Amino acid sequence: MSLLEVRDLVTAYGSIEALHGISFRVEQDEIVALLGANGAGKTTALRTISGLLRPRSGEVYFAGERIDTRPAHEIVRLGLTHVPEGRWIFSLMTVEENLRLGAYVERRLPRDALDRVFALFPRLAERRAQVAGTLSGGEQQMLAMARALMTKPRLLLLDEPSMGLAPVLVRLIFQKISDINREGTTVLLVEQNANAALRLAHRAYCLANGRVALEGPAAELARNEAVRQAYLGIAAGASARDGPR
Ligand SMILES: Nc1ncnc2c1ncn2[C@@H]1O[C@H](COP(=O)(O)OP(=O)(O)OP(=O)(O)O)[C@@H](O)[C@H]1O
Ligand SMILES: [Mg+2]
Repeated sequence: MSLLEVRDLVTAYGSIEALHGISFRVEQDEIVALLGANGAGKTTALRTISGLLRPRSGEVYFAGERIDTRPAHEIVRLGLTHVPEGRWIFSLMTVEENLRLGAYVERRLPRDALDRVFALFPRLAERRAQVAGTLSGGEQQMLAMARALMTKPRLLLLDEPSMGLAPVLVRLIFQKISDINREGTTVLLVEQNANAALRLAHRAYCLANGRVALEGPAAELARNEAVRQAYLGIAAGASARDGPR
């Protein structure tokens, strides 16, 4: 069985259905990209998987267990962490305090947790005593990712980690995602930066209006001009960074 399996998921906000029955899977050790235009349902999908929203119907399985009926804090304990859109760090606390809080769901902090994330993000190690609200945008995104890694999750859900970052930082964040994956964390990545996401991911799904419109190996989708134009909102031949956000 896949590490994550989403079956016919329907999620609604009141009377408005945002997901109309989406199905996809993430295998152990993969990076899977979830792409789509604004409003396609990407964030809704992640929030439903991590237990922040209840689906109207459908099922979600993580590591063989059904999780769509479970509360968010139990899902985290099973090893699935979600870094939400917009970097929810505690801006008045220091870098280290933010990281220690990230591990609060564990009864005991893994002893090497801080060392591990500081090895991955040396920039944060240098700034461990700095108040988080004074970090740059890219550093704040690194902190949000590092905090999620404190509990050693099996699956990391990332919602638009490159949003609002300068190109050089976008490359750095994508490099970090690759490093995290190589160290054994499976990743489900939501991105509007489609070109970069497809270079990084093994497979991808394109959402359009709450449905899976296309799926396949990332390299295949990246070559497909129709995909780029129809589902990613990018003019043929243009780079993702030039496209509308
Ligand atoms: N709290 C909410 N109440 C009502 N409708 C919502 C709510 N959150 C999202 N929606 C609607 O659900 C649909 C999917 O939104 P969602 O945030 O999942 O899209 P998205 O693919 O993440 O878009 P973006 O790329 O802009 O982040 C949209 O039509 C949106 O307006
Ligand atoms: Mg979103």
